Amino acid sequence: MKGLILSGGAGTRLRPITHTSAKQLVPIANKPILFYGIEAMRRAGIEDIGIIVGDTRAEIKAAVGDGSQFGVRVTYIPQDAPLGLAHCVLIAKEFLGDDEFVMYLGDNMLEQGLERFVAEFAAARKAGGAQAPVAQILLCHVDDPRQFGVAEVTSDGHVVRLVEKPKDPPSDLALVGVYLFDPTIHDAVRAIAPSARGELEITDAIQWLIEQGKPVRHEVLQGWWIDTGKKDPLLECNRLVLEVLEPRVDGDVDGASQIEGRVVVMAGARVVGSRIRGPAIIGADARVENSYIGPYTSIGNRCSVVGSEMEHSVVLDGSAIRDVKKLTDSLIGRNVEVHTSQQRPRALRLMLGDDSKVELES
Ligand code: G1P
Repeated sequence: MKGLILSGGAGTRLRPITHTSAKQLVPIANKPILFYGIEAMRRAGIEDIGIIVGDTRAEIKAAVGDGSQFGVRVTYIPQDAPLGLAHCVLIAKEFLGDDEFVMYLGDNMLEQGLERFVAEFAAARKAGGAQAPVAQILLCHVDDPRQFGVAEVTSDGHVVRLVEKPKDPPSDLALVGVYLFDPTIHDAVRAIAPSARGELEITDAIQWLIEQGKPVRHEVLQGWWIDTGKKDPLLECNRLVLEVLEPRVDGDVDGASQIEGRVVVMAGARVVGSRIRGPAIIGADARVENSYIGPYTSIGNRCSVVGSEMEHSVVLDGSAIRDVKKLTDSLIGRNVEVHTSQQRPRALRLMLGDDSKVELES
């Protein structure tokens, strides 16, 4: 079985972070989102992974390399325009050949691994005979299904219809961005036409399989699932991952500092005169001085936090935060400086990138 990870998307809803970097490389607990998907595939025994890349291909290649750091072989497949998830299957045909494959959206994070999902597809195909499934989808009950692909499942457990972003959803079962296919999907992606948003939808391709009378199996997800493409879901995902992090201190923590709960202090980091209340992670070579870092905070590598208080936030590599009280619910990009100025007249002095969002105290 092969793996296909889709990392071509532009990440428009995470601007300005994604003006300069790929959304799939935004870190969750200081590890790029994309790495979690690659590791999940490796744990499920998948060693041959194709990654669909778009405009941010250079950055993704620099981070992932040939895959050997994960124990896998990576083949990059360039997509020149974001023409849809089914278009990704179309352009990956040569890489995929006639193998079965797991398709994984590079910005989706899920608590459950892929092992069971893959094993159950294999078992169902073995047992199925003529009724063997040609595809398997993963579904999740959601509050607002209109922003996803949605499945209609009969009371005896058959998927009968799939619709992409329906105005009037047939159920609350959203399609999670993880799919299993046998080579029949290649006929499907060739047979469908672009949707109203101009994309070849994988949802339509699976619907085509159903219309051809091909069995499509489904499973309902266990645990959490987050499509990390926006700030608040991303912070929520960071919270969930920090919650299960193994605490360890590889950096230096001085005697005047307090570390409470689940905290990781990475190698080369220095914590001086500060209180860190987990779950939290302090990146490699970061410096935290005379500060309070509260729960659900990830501080990136080489950051400095001095004389500040913050919680429930993600700070990317190389940023500096000085004399800032009560920073919360924030996502801060790379090499950003935030500090309270002592200058008179008192005023806000800002240099913000395009599409920035700043929420000030009233
Ligand atoms: C895509 C799929 C949709 C699925 C979602 C999961 O949506 O088209 O069916 O539910 O991913 O994240 P998109 O992110 O392209 O809007």
